[in-house]
Amino acid sequence: MNENAVKTVPINYSADRPPAENPVKIMDLSLRDGHQSLFATRGRTEDMIPVAEMMDEVGFWAMETWGGATFDTMHRFLNEDPWERLRVLKRYIKKTPFSMLLRAQNLVGYRNYADDVAVAFVERTAENGMDIFRTFDALNDYRNFETVVKAIKKSGKHFQGCICYTMTEPRLGGDVYTLDYYVKKAKELESMGADSICIKDMAGLIAPYDAYTLVKALKAAVKAPIHLHSHFTSGMASMSQLKAIEAGVDILDTCMTPYAYRTSHPAIEPLVMALLGTNRDIGFDIHKLAAINETLEKQILPKYRHLLDDSKISIIDINVLLHQTPGGMLSNLVNQLREMDALDRLDDVFRELPRVRKELGQIPLVTPTSQIVGVQTVNNVLHDTPDERYKMITAQVKDLCYGLYGKTAIPIDPELQKKALKGYPRGEKPIACRPAEVLESELEKAKKEIGDLAADMDDLLIYAQFPVTGKKFLEWKYGRAEPPESVKPITLDFVKKQEALIKKARAGELVEKKTAENAPQKSEKTRAFNVFVDGEYFSVDVDPTGETAPVVSPIAAPPRLPAAAPAPAAVPVPKAADNAVQGNKLLAPMPGMIVAYKKNIGDAVAKGETLVILEAMKMENALVASCDGVIKSIGFKQGDTVPKGATLCVY
Ligand code: CO
Repeated sequence: MNENAVKTVPINYSADRPPAENPVKIMDLSLRDGHQSLFATRGRTEDMIPVAEMMDEVGFWAMETWGGATFDTMHRFLNEDPWERLRVLKRYIKKTPFSMLLRAQNLVGYRNYADDVAVAFVERTAENGMDIFRTFDALNDYRNFETVVKAIKKSGKHFQGCICYTMTEPRLGGDVYTLDYYVKKAKELESMGADSICIKDMAGLIAPYDAYTLVKALKAAVKAPIHLHSHFTSGMASMSQLKAIEAGVDILDTCMTPYAYRTSHPAIEPLVMALLGTNRDIGFDIHKLAAINETLEKQILPKYRHLLDDSKISIIDINVLLHQTPGGMLSNLVNQLREMDALDRLDDVFRELPRVRKELGQIPLVTPTSQIVGVQTVNNVLHDTPDERYKMITAQVKDLCYGLYGKTAIPIDPELQKKALKGYPRGEKPIACRPAEVLESELEKAKKEIGDLAADMDDLLIYAQFPVTGKKFLEWKYGRAEPPESVKPITLDFVKKQEALIKKARAGELVEKKTAENAPQKSEKTRAFNVFVDGEYFSVDVDPTGETAPVVSPIAAPPRLPAAAPAPAAVPVPKAADNAVQGNKLLAPMPGMIVAYKKNIGDAVAKGETLVILEAMKMENALVASCDGVIKSIGFKQGDTVPKGATLCVY
């Protein structure tokens, strides 16, 4: 008989029932992975506060509140100080430990940072209130854990080690990601002092019976509690959770219902009911959960509905079952192709993707490797010619080939590696050591660059990880530049007006009107919304009047810098290079953000030299000169967003 079998036991079903013999512990992900999966990580702190205290009363083992993409989106799109969120939520959530997603030596960015940045980041995160550091490395190369784990342990915090779950076959098996592979990884984590071990199934690939086999094997191999993180993307996660419970899993990840399912996680409420009256009863009061959901549904999530991808009726994505492509990666690919008017090439991308992945060392697909493989695949499909593959290699693929991300599961294709490393600044011979060993310290340099705009270490760590957008954010924070309207919150009132418009449009009452002569002038606060109703499209400009001005965020901290900052300059409209200037034009091959111009006006350039670094889909692309010349005109500047086809410079 299976000693982990779930047994029905005599029990009362009241909210204050005695605890079960071995309750399944639950981590709630609503405030991090939940909105990251469903609402583009755009959750604002002020929208977390209304449910924070209620959620603290539920009895979660932990709440994931920070890390992953939140640090990036907060400063980039929401004009929020990421550190401030941690401190504010801690004031409302006093009993439940906080968990964060830490990308090991990648911290909360997209590349390996130097050890001094990694140590400072973990120390400051612990100091600001983090309890559990859920740590993963995209390559499952635990040499990338060494520095952060030392710092986590030194801070006296919980180190949760993740094994990224990936596969090359439709089920657990094949010749790389076998049961033995995972058991070996778990033992490695245990020897590093992991306080718990997480199977991180970011793509929702784990099948229920594989979850059973895997959890059973890990429970037998290691002592640390086993935690399962499985996205719902493919539709299997609820079944996999149940089989994992039968195999003795200790902790599961769920979301509150409005943050659940689709590419997010199973909801907590059905699981509470499924286990009620068993020896693994979670013990939560379903009515408390219902009250939280009510608040979220009515007061919070209407503000985020426009971010929900409702382009499809199905809530599961069978492409994951067909192609083993993570959901987030798939939507990135689709967006990228759409922006380049190449959506019809999606099937080519699916064909090319497993090939690129194998040539790049059969790496797991998770941030940032999913973007690295995805963007390179799209580049290949769009730019390769019959006689040349890998025509446009991203900077990140070059770094991967050099060994900067760590050791790949199988060796990288030697021909590709050689091509990628031709002229690579660190050298043409790849490294075999722990990646951070070749990285020079970064904090001093960052401090020098940013100067007194970084008032403390927390500011400096924003800049050190995100030099372009981080600097912009610090300028907003300290009043040196005016934040654009797009980063300001919208109000429930605003959403209601918008919904009323949609209702009208649906009823056929929204007719085109000539602007009345006495209509008020559109203010600069006007925000344009595209409203789609049953295939019809309306462009609606909404101008907030006095009463509906966005509420002042209750968490805005007073600037800590002296008020000597100059008055905010008018936001300049980015200007393309002068098209009238004769010469070769470097056009943006895709929409993106200018990271840097490598040349100035008057500089001589040789064919093949890098002129501009353009960031697209979080990947940096080096755009090179197609012939020799002299730079005659430069249009944009660092940080500018450019459309596809924009003239970046003339030479
Ligand atoms: Co996740």
